[in-house]
Amino acid sequence: MTVSNPSPLTSDADWWRSAVVYQVYVRSFADSNGDGIGDLQGIRERLPYLRELGVDALWLTPFYTSPMVDGGYDVADYRDVDPMFGTLGDFEAMITDAHALGLRIIVDIVPNHTSDRHPWFQAALAAGPGSAERERYLFADGKGEHGEQPPNDWESIFGGPAWTRVPDGQWYLHLFDPAQPDLNWRHPQVRAEFEDVLRFWLDRGVDGFRIDVAHGMIKAEGLPDVGFSSMTTGRRQSELLGKGRLPYFDQDEVHDIYRAWRPILDSYPGGRMAVAEAWAETPQRLARYIGPDELHQAFSFDFLDATWSADSFRKVVDTALAESTIVGAPTTWVLSNHDRQRHVTRYGDGDVGLRRARAAALLMLALPGCAYLYQGEELGLPEVLDLPDELRQDPAFLRTGESRDGCRVPIPWSGDLAPYGFGPAGSELSWLPAPTTWRALSVAAQAGVPGSTLELYRAALRIRHQHPALAGTGGITWQEIGPGLLAFSRHADGSTLTCVVNTGDSAVRVDGHGTPIVASEALTEQDGGHLLPVDSAAWFERR
Ligand code: GLC
Repeated sequence: MTVSNPSPLTSDADWWRSAVVYQVYVRSFADSNGDGIGDLQGIRERLPYLRELGVDALWLTPFYTSPMVDGGYDVADYRDVDPMFGTLGDFEAMITDAHALGLRIIVDIVPNHTSDRHPWFQAALAAGPGSAERERYLFADGKGEHGEQPPNDWESIFGGPAWTRVPDGQWYLHLFDPAQPDLNWRHPQVRAEFEDVLRFWLDRGVDGFRIDVAHGMIKAEGLPDVGFSSMTTGRRQSELLGKGRLPYFDQDEVHDIYRAWRPILDSYPGGRMAVAEAWAETPQRLARYIGPDELHQAFSFDFLDATWSADSFRKVVDTALAESTIVGAPTTWVLSNHDRQRHVTRYGDGDVGLRRARAAALLMLALPGCAYLYQGEELGLPEVLDLPDELRQDPAFLRTGESRDGCRVPIPWSGDLAPYGFGPAGSELSWLPAPTTWRALSVAAQAGVPGSTLELYRAALRIRHQHPALAGTGGITWQEIGPGLLAFSRHADGSTLTCVVNTGDSAVRVDGHGTPIVASEALTEQDGGHLLPVDSAAWFERR
């Protein structure tokens, strides 16, 4: 695939305010060596595809040395590449090529917990209770006569207790899998270590960080009980994620960490940024993570959680935009990621889900702020719901029966046979199998085909970059045009772009907003206006 006129990186330090960032789940994006697993060299080879798609930056999920209990979110060495994904040299070659194509690179950082194979945790296990080595993690004695009960009632997000007992009788905290022990962020060595890890990757040219579990590093003093658990009430504590307060999330002191990180980012040229994966009780508390002395962005998961209705979208868009105005940072929109069911399926699956997903893409890409795309959404990929249990790898699956594997199935690139161009000819089958229906959804099957989801994304991204009304972070003006319809305009330099989404149950005539310039379904002209079908969206332009 050739790319015409590659542009170098812009020098704009505010690039992230309106960027489109493409999330690469490294294991499932492209396999260069035919072992059935995606790798850094595979990403490097596919950079021209991403440039042609029209994104500004890539966010790479963890590719560090890891036993892969949680897909790499269990890091054993924060300064090296896992052999499964390549070498540090491959990373350097990939980032050099990305920058030459004008693509920025954001990497994941996992500070809440390490892998249990990390040398610090191994040392803590060996050194025993009361040792300095144990203080870098959260070890505690148990309750009960012989310390046989966990120190408190906290639950793992992946199900079950958040504590595991080691042979000498102490317990350690893991908010996720037992193979992911939580670090003690009140320990100065932990803070110093991560500041150094940030510099390590900044020195290698990364443009930003996605901070994993950014709300989790500080736990309430004294490790108090939550007061209910699955065992006592049948309600999992994780139900409170994003809705209530938990003593292990969103503690005020966590902000000190980001106030220390920001000057490090700012000491590098070119606008190095950080985006929080944070869950907070209210949008107001989430907004506290962003601002000139903390982080640049926090994902707006309320948008992802909105149901397919004009009212639901309008509510979350209004709230998110109001918060971003107060804190002076752009909103960060996301429809799918590696932890959530793909939005084609969330919106109804099949044809209906796909139509809605295509419309939602036009909605998201017309909004001011930064948009995060998840690999494969530009192909309209659905969740794979029927993976055989024995192939599922998500550690949450065994504990809760819920699995995130269905959104992590490798990308179909081309061809009629599995693994659909994921690896070179003659390669192993991919680590998760793609359904045969994905033959028709591959990049090669959609490229150049008018009306395909890939061409819709390409067109929308092209317009987003070129249209003055969509440039920058300016506000939106809602248009009241009828029930079930969501419509808003953005203006610049005498031109107006209006995005209309039809979530109702019949086609609607839209007029007075100018010429359609992109639409998720074919529009028909009617009496000087345009008929917008159900479950679709279009952008109209008036100059
Ligand atoms: C974040 C990641 C998720 C991971 C968890 C633990 O939520 O997005 O994939 O399992 O953190 O690191």
